[in-house]
Amino acid sequence: MHPQRRAIPAGILFGRTFLRHPRMLGSVVPSSRFLISRVLRPVDWPRTRVVVEAGPGVGTLTTAILDRLGGDGALVAFEMNHTFVSHLRRQIPDRRLVVLHRTAADAETALAERGMGAVDLLVSGIPLSGLTREARLELLEGWRRLLRPGGELLVYQFTRSALPDLRRIFGRVRREFEPLNVLPAWVFRCHAP
Ligand SMILES: C[S@@+](CC[C@H](N)C(=O)[O-])C[C@H]1O[C@@H](n2cnc3c(N)ncnc32)[C@H](O)[C@@H]1O
Repeated sequence: MHPQRRAIPAGILFGRTFLRHPRMLGSVVPSSRFLISRVLRPVDWPRTRVVVEAGPGVGTLTTAILDRLGGDGALVAFEMNHTFVSHLRRQIPDRRLVVLHRTAADAETALAERGMGAVDLLVSGIPLSGLTREARLELLEGWRRLLRPGGELLVYQFTRSALPDLRRIFGRVRREFEPLNVLPAWVFRCHAP
């Protein structure tokens, strides 16, 4: 008989994975509940059915999104780290959630492969400052094409370095700041034209 494996607490799993992949994670702890509620507060949930999450980590925002999403909604999460992918698949058994072990830069292709149409909401916590400018612009252009007209992109970051590129691709960008997070974070809100 196999001894039963106990799940590692999410915060410890996150910190341990950060020590191995600091650039990929960009943060030593998951987002705080203050940042999560600031990111998700402006969303028009009754009009939101298809959601993409880039970089769910241990699923702190993922579960908050699922709590707000309707029963016929779909959430496709892109995560590069295989430890997090296994954790999410094991810990969040929700038929609306699909966790893909792929870069969020593949979102357009991956959704087309699944026959999924335009996306209402894309939420991203991936560290955009770690990408080259060329890769960042390509990623953001792909995300803009993925969103339905009027669809929303919510990006949270520790710096404002991605702001000029967000403006270049989306035009107007609304900004908010959340001090109650390690580290304090900016939330950028953009709409697809
Ligand atoms: C700052 S952590 C955010 C984790 C979680 N969303 C939160 O708010 O606590 C960034 C996450 O993005 C993932 N990541 C980094 N680059 C990625 C990419 N190109 N595509 C998908 N996930 C990525 C990392 O593995 C990590 O889980």
